[in-house]
Amino acid sequence: MNHNFLWGSSLSGGQCEGGFHSRSETVVDIIPQGKDTRFQYLDNPGCYLQRPEGFYPSQDGVEFYEHYQEDIAMFAKMGLKALRFSILWSRIYLDDSDQPNEEGLQFYDNVINELLKYHIEPIITTIHFDMPLWIVQKYNGFTNRKTVELYQKYVHTIVNRYHDRVKYWISFCEINVMNSALYMVGGAVLQPDEDRETILHLCAYNQLLANALLVKACHDIDDSLKVGCEVAGTPCYPLTSSPVDYQIMVENERKNNRYTDVMVKGIYPYYFQKEMLDYGIEMRNEDLKILKDYSLDFIAVSYYKSSLASHTHVLDNPYLEKTAFHWTIDPLGFRIMLNNMYERYEIPIMVVENGLGTYDQVENNQIHDDYRIDYLQKHIEQMKLAIEDGVDIIGYLTWAAMDVVSTSEGMMSKRYGFIYVDRNDDGTGSFKRIPKDSFYWYQNYIKEETLKRKK
Ligand code: BG6
Repeated sequence: MNHNFLWGSSLSGGQCEGGFHSRSETVVDIIPQGKDTRFQYLDNPGCYLQRPEGFYPSQDGVEFYEHYQEDIAMFAKMGLKALRFSILWSRIYLDDSDQPNEEGLQFYDNVINELLKYHIEPIITTIHFDMPLWIVQKYNGFTNRKTVELYQKYVHTIVNRYHDRVKYWISFCEINVMNSALYMVGGAVLQPDEDRETILHLCAYNQLLANALLVKACHDIDDSLKVGCEVAGTPCYPLTSSPVDYQIMVENERKNNRYTDVMVKGIYPYYFQKEMLDYGIEMRNEDLKILKDYSLDFIAVSYYKSSLASHTHVLDNPYLEKTAFHWTIDPLGFRIMLNNMYERYEIPIMVVENGLGTYDQVENNQIHDDYRIDYLQKHIEQMKLAIEDGVDIIGYLTWAAMDVVSTSEGMMSKRYGFIYVDRNDDGTGSFKRIPKDSFYWYQNYIKEETLKRKK
């Protein structure tokens, strides 16, 4: 681990920003709060385009738009060396005119400058489950090649504007989660007569091209910039020694790795190429050349849990504890995943999300979240072992710097942050920020790590 190691944390615009009236809508703005409704959108976002009555938590987020100076001052107090956040495309282009929104560009100038004031490295994600809704409504997201063109225009605008201050760029959040979240990742609404896998492969083709075009834009504009794409790292274990379970595991891992294979190796592996042909996706030679010429500089990875492969559909791992939201807690899985990934790709890895989502209690204006400290400590230990194994890891960013609206449930009470935000599931609350015990723990941890590296 070298002294430039990026100890930090992450946020995303669609979950924290709010500032709804000074931008156009994103895909998550139209999803109402509610455990069940949030899950339904994965396969049937169409109904939300009709806007049922309800509370829409992403429209306010946690008011980072209004509180960013106070928040960044707290991140600086914690000692963060890096903060990853997403730019809301819907703040930069309000519609498909060629004129970017100067007020939106200025907001991110302010955020970046504020971070740099405290020597915090800004890391930008260009889309984090927050594509503009007008692109969904007009072009059906990445099913349409027009979206690739629009994306190219968007990234040229932001890379030109911020490249002098932002070195690390991440195209998409968890591109492989598109396997289950077509609307959130690909911006595609499935029509009743459409085949899901065909639409998924079409989105994947266009989105992989868009990723390479971000690499191209960054390298053309400033060849010192580094570009990654985030993938969800979820190791999968066969439940039994049955070869059938093993085969299911191999297939699951392929589905998870196929995007990274293209983005790092610059070619479609044989199995993914065959899938594209089977689904009738046209693969143009000029696109394949772009993929080859512009591969990733690093892989951004998130890690929360491991999964199981079983032909019996019993998917409960008896060896692992679970969170209040039934996610497995598997620190060793983190080391395994990091090793597997490095063995396959051999380019630097940045951990851009890792954390525990659970309920917190406020007692006398304090939050004693020792369970979160324990989770993070055990995961960092395993990451350090992976580094000792030889894996090249350039940073560790937790999810999340502060409490934000959760993605799968849209709840505020499923909390991940070091900083508690007084906002409830029903939309009440003052947005007051309170540092949790984990805030002081991470502050101390970063301080000690920095001292160790300086010696
Ligand atoms: C990651 C996403 O998949 O997991 C984040 O990039 C998300 O946006 C995080 O918040 C935790 O998931 P959830 O659904 O508990 O918020």
